[in-house]
Amino acid sequence: MLELKSISYSVREGDGELGILNDISLTIPDHRLVVFTGPNGGGKTTLAKIIMGLVTPTAGQILWNGQDITSLGITERARLGISYGFQQPPRFKGLTVRDLLTLASGDEKLSKDKCCQYLTRVGLCANDYLDREVDVSLSGGEVKRIEIASILARNAQLMIFDEPEAGIDLWSFARLTETFEQIHAAGSGTMIIISHQERIISLADEVIVVGDGRLRHRGSAAEILPRILADTLGGCPVLTKEANAQ
Ligand SMILES: Nc1ncnc2c1ncn2[C@@H]1O[C@H](COP(=O)(O)OP(=O)(O)O)[C@@H](O)[C@H]1O
Ligand SMILES: [Mg+2]
Repeated sequence: MLELKSISYSVREGDGELGILNDISLTIPDHRLVVFTGPNGGGKTTLAKIIMGLVTPTAGQILWNGQDITSLGITERARLGISYGFQQPPRFKGLTVRDLLTLASGDEKLSKDKCCQYLTRVGLCANDYLDREVDVSLSGGEVKRIEIASILARNAQLMIFDEPEAGIDLWSFARLTETFEQIHAAGSGTMIIISHQERIISLADEVIVVGDGRLRHRGSAAEILPRILADTLGGCPVLTKEANAQ
C-alpha cells in the first residue's frame, strides 16, 4: 500500500517560493490501477517523481507498505519494488535493448524468449530490436516502448508510467493498453499511469485529477471520464483536444 501524507513541494523563485504541489494526501491500496490525469503543468510528473524518489518533497511523508520511505533515494526505493518510466526516457549509448532488459530483470541469463515476450507486450518485434543500442538511433516512441518493456521485466510491485502513450502510434498503443489490462487482471502489481487517453482512463479503478498542484477530483472512470469529455470539471481542459494536439 502506498500512502502520501500532506505532500507539498515548492521551489525558490526569485525572492519567493513557487508552490508546485500543495498538501496532497492519498492512499493507494495494492493491485490497483490508478490514473493521474489533468491539465499540463498541473503537477502529475512531479508527484510521480516524488513517489519514485527523484524529487524530495518540501513537506509531508511517503509510506510504502507501512515503511517511511520519504528520505530514501531511487535505488533503495527500486529495491523495495517501486519502478518508474520517464515521460521522456533517457538513452544509453553502448547498452543494447537486450542488456537493458537483462539488467532490469535482475536475471543474468535472461533468455532470448523472455526478452521477446517483454518486447511483444509493448508492440515491438524482438528480432528487430534485441541487438539495437538504446541510443539516439531509436525514435522517441521506440525508446518509450523499450523503457516500458524494462519496467515489465523488473516485475515491480509498484509501477509508475508517465504518459506511456506519448509518441506511440495507434497500433502499438492498442497493444500497450491490452498489456496494462492484462497486468491488472493478473493482479500482479499496483500501477499508477499518468495519461490523457480515454482508453487508459477507462481501465482505471480510480481516476485522480491533478490540477494546480492539488488533487482536484477523484472517482471511478465511469464517474470522471464523462465529466472530462464534457469539460465539466471546472478549469480542466477538454482532454481529447489536448491529446489530439500532442
Ligand atoms: N524544479 C522546478 N523548478 C521550477 N518549476 C518547476 C520545477 N519542477 C516542476 N516545475 C513546474 O511545476 C509545474 C508542474 O509540472 P509537472 O509536474 O511536470 O506537470 P505535469 O506533469 O502535470 O504536466 C509546471 O509548471 C512546471 O514548470
Ligand atoms: Mg508530465
